[in-house]
Amino acid sequence: MAPPDQNVSNPTAFQMDATKLSHSVAPFQSQLINWYGANARDLPWRKEPSLYKTVVSEFMLQQTQVKTALPYFDAWLKVYPNFKKLAKATEDQVLKSWEGLGYYSRARNLHKLAKTVSNLPELPTDSKSWQAFPGIGPYAAAAVCSISFSDPSAVVDGNVVRILSRLIADTAQYKTSVEAAKAYQSLAETLLNTARPGDHNQAMMELGATVCRKANPQCLLCPVVDLCEGRIAGIESSLPRFDKTKTEKKTVDRAFIVGPKGILLHKIPESAKRMKGLHEIPSLEQLALPKPIDNLLIERKRSITKYRITERFFPIDLKALPKKLPPDSLWVKTDAIDELPFSGPHRKWIQELLAQNSS
Ligand code: ADE
Repeated sequence: MAPPDQNVSNPTAFQMDATKLSHSVAPFQSQLINWYGANARDLPWRKEPSLYKTVVSEFMLQQTQVKTALPYFDAWLKVYPNFKKLAKATEDQVLKSWEGLGYYSRARNLHKLAKTVSNLPELPTDSKSWQAFPGIGPYAAAAVCSISFSDPSAVVDGNVVRILSRLIADTAQYKTSVEAAKAYQSLAETLLNTARPGDHNQAMMELGATVCRKANPQCLLCPVVDLCEGRIAGIESSLPRFDKTKTEKKTVDRAFIVGPKGILLHKIPESAKRMKGLHEIPSLEQLALPKPIDNLLIERKRSITKYRITERFFPIDLKALPKKLPPDSLWVKTDAIDELPFSGPHRKWIQELLAQNSS
């Protein structure tokens, strides 16, 4: 197996390679699935699996590692044991249960999906139809339908791209993970074990997460090491290749304001791109306040996508507030804070600020 054509935009590159791979398809499938049978982790969505558990786990596991998702999954199943219960929850409750997992559009979409699914007399079982549902892209559709309905669709996520790029020693440079996933769809389908698509897909995820890891791949434990061109060429650790993502620095100054009606918060509006419905400590900009020159209370760092953000908190006097507050402002009593969903670390920051305020 030679490296494929370096031209990423050439969709035939991997088809060509898949043809060359044809003699390796059967051993790849059987070695992988036997390994999975012996090494699959004991994960809660794999115990007495159901469509609901599979859907919830796939939503949680997009952009989140298994070990982070585990406590959330267990807690979620207790509060929302099925689509119907989830459909009946309020958006605030759903966002609050999701708090800390990030990428909140997943929670909102999962909620919408539960409402859609609860109203349907019958559910489709193929990944194409599932892609019409809220929050279900090609990856989630393939994962859910292969695991729950044995639909023969191959998942391609970061783990799969990593395994396959190493398998065929692909040294092409990709701009984004989406571009790489598209490039690998046909090879993933060629390799799919259509007799057991759900187990095959989960085996790929498992291999990527536990053995074919980004750093320090555990090639000695790999069931398909004998087929891996990247390993044979000694370049496995450097694959796949991606353009470097540029990070941007940003500073956000925020107003910590406590009055007789509680603490002033900002609810992120429906029109926002991210984190709609979550609460934050308002920024000076949102309140049209000038930047104070001193009195910095605390300074914290956070990262959101490509942004490295410095968050600074200033105490603002009630008298400095504009008469008419912006429409998404609200006063919240400190004992009611627990009931609201917050963006990222804002709940923790409020506690730190309140503690500093009372000392
Ligand atoms: N990552 C995404 N889906 C997964 C699953 N079903 N099992 C393990 N890891 C996953």
